[in-house]
Amino acid sequence: MKNLSFKLILLWFRGRILRNRAALWNYQYAVGRWEKLKASPEEARLEATAHLLRRHVPAGRVLEIGCGEALLQQRLRPEDYREWLGVDISEVAIQRAQAFAGPNVRYLAADMETLDPDGKFDAIVFTESIYAVPDRVKLLRRYTHFLSPAGLFIVSICRSKRGPQYWSEIHQVTAMIDAITTTNERGIWDCEVLRPMRTE
Ligand SMILES: C[S@@+](CC[C@H](N)C(=O)[O-])C[C@H]1O[C@@H](n2cnc3c(N)ncnc32)[C@H](O)[C@@H]1O
Repeated sequence: MKNLSFKLILLWFRGRILRNRAALWNYQYAVGRWEKLKASPEEARLEATAHLLRRHVPAGRVLEIGCGEALLQQRLRPEDYREWLGVDISEVAIQRAQAFAGPNVRYLAADMETLDPDGKFDAIVFTESIYAVPDRVKLLRRYTHFLSPAGLFIVSICRSKRGPQYWSEIHQVTAMIDAITTTNERGIWDCEVLRPMRTE
């Protein structure tokens, strides 16, 4: 009985934390904190990601995690992908992204840690979103199951004090096959194309 109460309290806390996480991002989008992502210094890193996607996964089925307001998809031509699923924890961002939805483009509000997408993808892209979870190794292992046999991850991370730690976690379960670094007055971004290390 004592054990059950403890588990229920834990579940309640987890639920609150998860709800708060979405609420925090919603608040930030609502007050315009992420408007800066639409500014010109961000163009180079988005273009680098778009370029790597075109080069390695032409006309693929793409899952973008933490897609925000659909900035990456807007840089691509319709023939660059066969199907696009953009996912973000913020309903506010997804509502804005819906303006760019179409017959083969969907946007969905969901948490990357619990998302169970339909089918397999040729590319799973994390643009400035992989640092939002505490365990990147677990996350990438889980998403490896949603990649087609030749499927690839594309990950972009802005350089920061924690950047090397993020990449070392990511490289525990993937191997880098291509990369582009972009630099401007706002920062340095590394974008890597990664092959998952499959265990089974
Ligand atoms: C810095 S923004 C990057 C947005 C966009 N990808 C870009 O490159 O401009 C990080 C995004 O990750 C989303 N995000 C944070 N935690 C998430 C989670 N657990 N599941 C899904 N999306 C998440 C946020 O709502 C936000 O849109």
